[in-house]
Amino acid sequence: MGVASLHPISSSGSGLRCLSVSDQAGAAPAAGGRIGWFRFEAVDADDYERYRPGYASEAIDWLMERAGLGPSSVVIDLGAGTGKLARSFVGRVGQVIAVEPAPNMLAVLRESVPHARAVAGTAEAIPLPEASVDCAVAGQAFHHFDGPVALRDVHRVLRPGGHFALLWNMPDPNDPLDGALDAIIDRHVGASPIHVAFDSWRDAFREAPLFLEVGEEYVTHIQETPSTTLAPAMATSSDVASLPEHGRNELLAEVEEFARNLPERIAITRRTEVHLFRRLD
Ligand SMILES: C[S@@+](CC[C@H](N)C(=O)[O-])C[C@H]1O[C@@H](n2cnc3c(N)ncnc32)[C@H](O)[C@@H]1O
Repeated sequence: MGVASLHPISSSGSGLRCLSVSDQAGAAPAAGGRIGWFRFEAVDADDYERYRPGYASEAIDWLMERAGLGPSSVVIDLGAGTGKLARSFVGRVGQVIAVEPAPNMLAVLRESVPHARAVAGTAEAIPLPEASVDCAVAGQAFHHFDGPVALRDVHRVLRPGGHFALLWNMPDPNDPLDGALDAIIDRHVGASPIHVAFDSWRDAFREAPLFLEVGEEYVTHIQETPSTTLAPAMATSSDVASLPEHGRNELLAEVEEFARNLPERIAITRRTEVHLFRRLD
């Protein structure tokens, strides 16, 4: 597993661990989303922006080339968050449109990625006309959507022959930090529905057979960061943010203790993975 909250997959391999926020207790529906328990309004968007990793640039190069993107292309980033993925396309394509339902994330996105057009909206009801987009992307986000509904709306806004790319930053299984952090997380966080959602993301493509998978790419990259960032980064993660306060504080205290025994600066190895689909006409 990766480095908690810096990493999305649990040690059991059961699915996403940390890169989303679940709020099962509140059970308030996410705007337009399938999974009522994920509410990114509960996340500190500034911390999310500060501590979360970006995507490997070679993975974006691969996507640009394989999807035939260039200076006149329109790219839409669904579940854009604070714009970690959207920014990768700024200056490389004609227009980047970032769609995000959570107001706190959107506000940070507007500051962090001023050259993207930021719009409030969901992947299930994309606020764009049909056939207006060359490529849709979703970073660390597709498992939050109502997959089949989102696929139908992505199909609607894509031009014929357009592409949809799903990206995730996954932990590198060889990263020695993973096991130790997993053990801490596993003591505090039980199985989460987000794990199930992540593990079954491909089901949506079977249920709504509107796309053809045309390639996948995996690129390893390293984030160098002070070890003191481990706990605040983890605090922005889904499972952690949705824990009752006492449990959350205990978990974060353990991570802080763990981090105190690490070197001042650490290198976290991750793998950006890209799954590329082409719209079937
Ligand atoms: C883990 S964050 C990823 C943010 C960003 N893409 C990144 O790579 O850091 C998932 C984002 O998806 C958004 N989201 C959740 N449900 C959504 C939906 N149904 N449609 C669009 N975005 C949604 C959340 O508000 C959150 O900002």
